[in-house]
Amino acid sequence: MKKVYLDNAATTPVAPEVFEEMVPYLRDVFGNPSSQHSFGRQAKGVLETARRKVANYLNAKPSEIVFTSGGTEADNMVFNIAANELNVERFITSEIEHHAVLHTAEHICSKRKVELQIVKLLPNGHVDLQHLEKLLASSNKKTLVSLMHGNNEIGNLLPLKKVSELCRKHNAYFHSDTVQTMAHYKFDLQALDVDFLTCSAHKFHGPKGIGFLYINSHVKAVPMIHGGSQERGLRGGTENLYSIVGLAKAMELAYTNLEEHQIHVQGLKSYMKQELIANIPDVSFHGDTESDENSLYTVLNVSLPATSKAAMLLFTLDLKVILLK
Ligand SMILES: Cc1ncc(COP(=O)(O)O)c(C=O)c1O
Repeated sequence: MKKVYLDNAATTPVAPEVFEEMVPYLRDVFGNPSSQHSFGRQAKGVLETARRKVANYLNAKPSEIVFTSGGTEADNMVFNIAANELNVERFITSEIEHHAVLHTAEHICSKRKVELQIVKLLPNGHVDLQHLEKLLASSNKKTLVSLMHGNNEIGNLLPLKKVSELCRKHNAYFHSDTVQTMAHYKFDLQALDVDFLTCSAHKFHGPKGIGFLYINSHVKAVPMIHGGSQERGLRGGTENLYSIVGLAKAMELAYTNLEEHQIHVQGLKSYMKQELIANIPDVSFHGDTESDENSLYTVLNVSLPATSKAAMLLFTLDLKVILLK
């Protein structure tokens, strides 16, 4: 029986085309990109082609893309760069950030003289931009604002351009965790002025354990992982070449079919919502359910009425081969 998998915000299956693209780099092209001989030069060429490909999709410079082990590492790097190298004295973030952001910010603030401020949320879960502006205006401390683009639980979308303009107005650095939106939405990083974005390939049919950090070329970053000159010296360690190739292929697939995919998945989301309303009295939804525009087309957060069997719900659905978060 075919299983229904509804947990794509947690992870997605690797696309067959991505798998095929990766195989030669697992089997045949094994050189170390740092080696000077032809095996190494071949691997280096593949690495830099993948970086250019990724940068092109975002209208960024290849030198602004640092491959990492995924979203968590990339988010951690942002806070470490901010506190250690940019002399940031204040972080502003929200309560509904992924723990890769929230726990990293809390950890650094517990060890260092960095202040942590939490921006308020509106009742529908959107960031209160008036409060954000108030916080930004309340201090001259060097600040990093970190607010995610698409929330993995409730699906709300942050107005990136508006927030980036607010940050610029108040001279703050701006990071957005774009793990749920990269390769699901278009980004033009010549038009959008942000300092850091983070990406994880397994959220868009690429392999796990690979992602990247976008660092705007205006930001002066220094080595975060020491011990090698890879990734322009920022992240030492032999590159995960086959996964990087897989990430670039997954991005190509996503951006080739972006509109089609969005219309299809948005249709599924609307249908599911409609059927839940029609069949379950008192069902409700969290997040911004009013507008498709301000909500991830891939996420629907459903609240079912309380029953004595609620604890068994996931288990029961799993038996019926429906896999939810
Ligand atoms: C919003 C967000 N940020 C960060 C991450 C962490 O990414 P990774 O699994 O690549 O470490 C996730 C994954 O669950 C996520 O949804």
